[in-house]
Amino acid sequence: MRVVYKIGGHLLDIEHGATEISDYLKILKKLHDKGHRLAVVIGGGENARSYVNAARRLGADEASCDQIGIEVTRLNAELFILGIGEDAYPTPPRDIAELKNALRTEKLVVLGGLTPGHSTDAVAAIVSEIMKAELLVRLTDVDGVYTDNPKTNPSAKKIEVISTKKLLDMLISKKYWAGGYELIDPIAIKIIERSKIPTRIVDGKDPKNLEKALRHEKIGTLISE
Ligand code: UTP
Repeated sequence: MRVVYKIGGHLLDIEHGATEISDYLKILKKLHDKGHRLAVVIGGGENARSYVNAARRLGADEASCDQIGIEVTRLNAELFILGIGEDAYPTPPRDIAELKNALRTEKLVVLGGLTPGHSTDAVAAIVSEIMKAELLVRLTDVDGVYTDNPKTNPSAKKIEVISTKKLLDMLISKKYWAGGYELIDPIAIKIIERSKIPTRIVDGKDPKNLEKALRHEKIGTLISE
């Protein structure tokens, strides 16, 4: 199966030992060994936000702040590549041409951001288009899409299946800026919509969900027409 995983940078506690990364790696290696074609996009998390905010305080324009964020996502991707070793394409592709070359190999491709103006969610959607992925899985710190922010509203209800249009309506009222994509980047949703990419938003705190989503278990929220 061709699958793209987006692992939120906020899930990686790099400062305290990176155990989460090795948990993800074990499962990714297993799925790769079984013959699944995988690409993994890593987000920037707190470190990206700190760097973006520091750049903004120094007076940088938004595109340059994005570029700083991209560099942090690539650094996170490098950690995954180091952990995977031989089975990984040796560097995070920096543009579409390099991405295509990497995808032509048998290697597990790990990357971070590509260009300013969106998040790694959009990168994961672009990679899904190029790979003709049968599934895109976004791993985050909530177990799906809720009617409201479950962290601030305890009566928020989980939605099992949501259309791209409904999801966009929910997100469109919010503001997005460098380092500030919360549930999912609306640009990613537009790409998911135009290429009808089956997408699941799942709880990434449990790495087993990588495998469960691939087995089409009904976890998290499915984005589907
Ligand atoms: P992320 O996608 O990681 O955003 O990119 P995030 O909000 O930290 O997401 P999680 O927590 O990992 O899921 C970090 C920042 O890098 C820039 C954006 O500014 C983004 O907010 N970026 C990233 C880009 O401009 N382009 C890209 O292709 C990727």
